[in-house]
Amino acid sequence: MIRIAMTKGRIQKQVTILLEQAGFDMTAVREMGRELVVTIPDDLEIIFGKANDVITFLEHGIVDIGFVGKDTLDENDFDDYYELLDLKVGQCIFALASYPDFLNKKFHSRKRIASKYPRITKNYFAQKQEDIEIIKLEGSVELGPVVGLADAIVDIVETGNTLSANGLEVIEKISDISTRMIVNKASFKFKKDKIIEMVERLENAQTN
Ligand code: PRP
Repeated sequence: MIRIAMTKGRIQKQVTILLEQAGFDMTAVREMGRELVVTIPDDLEIIFGKANDVITFLEHGIVDIGFVGKDTLDENDFDDYYELLDLKVGQCIFALASYPDFLNKKFHSRKRIASKYPRITKNYFAQKQEDIEIIKLEGSVELGPVVGLADAIVDIVETGNTLSANGLEVIEKISDISTRMIVNKASFKFKKDKIIEMVERLENAQTN
């Protein structure tokens, strides 16, 4: 039995399609209601959780494989896993965003940066050797500059629609994001053949 944890929502939808293209029978996932654990043929069990919890399940050896966004992986301290595949779905970027005049503006104190991703924000500004104040928001981070709480944001940009609808724009791209397949190191040792087979099937699905 291989156990998989998958981020609920957008990633779940896209990875389900990819697993179908790889020949896995995902009927039970398509037909699921409010269940949180689903068994599919090929001796696979899938659990659905919040992004950070996918990493927690993998860290504690509850699951062998996790499907999770690079954003969540970068923000999390835990890095004792193998990243076996970039699924190339859920593609977007991390960016510094603000009003168009941001770069020409004079700041007399530390810039205030709102983000749902304080670790990524801290590392980005540390690289620039710039001391800033991070304001943690849980969502709709664009509100930071809009309500005057922050000078800029570090956030995910997909279509850019949320930024432009609020008068904001990308100031600088930070990194690329997409959904990754990660594997628990002990699982990889003991279930290597089945895991490699899944990677190969997914890779074939990506190229076809
Ligand atoms: C994300 C992100 C932006 C938006 C970007 O938020 O934080 O707000 O999507 O997408 P766009 O470039 O296509 O407009 P999400 O919808 O996941 O919800 P949240 O704001 O509550 O985090």
